[in-house]
Amino acid sequence: MSIMDKFRLDGKVAYVTGAAQGIGEALATGLAEAGADVAVVDINLEKAEGTAKNIAEATGRKTKAYAVDVTVAENAPKLVEQVVADFGGLHIAFHNAGMAHNVPSEDLSVEDWHRMINLNMHAVFFGTQAAGRYMLENGGGSIVNTGSMSGSIVNVPQPQIHYNTSKAGVVHMSKSFGVEWADRGVRVNTISPGYIGTELLQSEELAPLRDEWAGVTPQRRLGRPDELAGIAVYLASDASTYATASDFIVDGGYTAV
Ligand SMILES: NC(=O)c1ccc[n+]([C@@H]2O[C@H](COP(=O)([O-])OP(=O)(O)OC[C@H]3O[C@@H](n4cnc5c(N)ncnc54)[C@H](O)[C@@H]3O)[C@@H](O)[C@H]2O)c1
Repeated sequence: MSIMDKFRLDGKVAYVTGAAQGIGEALATGLAEAGADVAVVDINLEKAEGTAKNIAEATGRKTKAYAVDVTVAENAPKLVEQVVADFGGLHIAFHNAGMAHNVPSEDLSVEDWHRMINLNMHAVFFGTQAAGRYMLENGGGSIVNTGSMSGSIVNVPQPQIHYNTSKAGVVHMSKSFGVEWADRGVRVNTISPGYIGTELLQSEELAPLRDEWAGVTPQRRLGRPDELAGIAVYLASDASTYATASDFIVDGGYTAV
């Protein structure tokens, strides 16, 4: 099989959480362009339905939107069950839904700490466990979780201790899953983006920071969500069969300097 054939995802079923917009939408689009049928999972059903429709029209692949709050543990196995019932299987699972928030660590409330860890870390555990349980019993698969360069570096100048902690947790949790399942056909990796110009970074409070971030990135710009689709297809596909328990940083050079 040629290397380009190995990148194809025809006949594969994927779900992507947080896929209504931003990075998740770009990952879901890339997977569908490579041939996968894709479940678009988000807490925002209306937006997810629009995204699912757009991807289906653009790629000709089967898509379906699912309204799921990924922070609720019971929703993870229910989602797997539903996707398998609707699509006939599950080969690829992306846990990508996440949030950002800036506050000095001395002022961080217990509520904000829990909100961050619940979404950015606990939900990734619930999802990876549920998808992995299915894949271990059903021919294997590839799980990809969205980490962040913030899992390896501490961003400046904005204070975001709970975000950084959640992403370090996602990266190491995914390595731990990956090692446990390495010889049982289920691969688990993380994609760790640098600054990507999505809605997550469009808030008013972050406006002065965007130029600063671009200035300290060797490529002198923020990334685009579609610039993560290549690594997503690679990790989802048979082009990456020896890649597991690893973190793939895509950051315009940020973490190297
Ligand atoms: N944008 C960046 O610069 C950047 C950098 C590194 C990592 N990331 C990570 O990438 C991921 C996606 O970020 P983005 O920039 O596309 O964000 P975004 O805010 O544009 O999209 C996040 C999506 O997650 C959904 N979501 C939120 N809470 C949910 C819940 N409880 N259940 C289900 N869905 C929920 C939202 O509705 C939204 O569609 C996040 O994990 C984020 O931490 C982003």
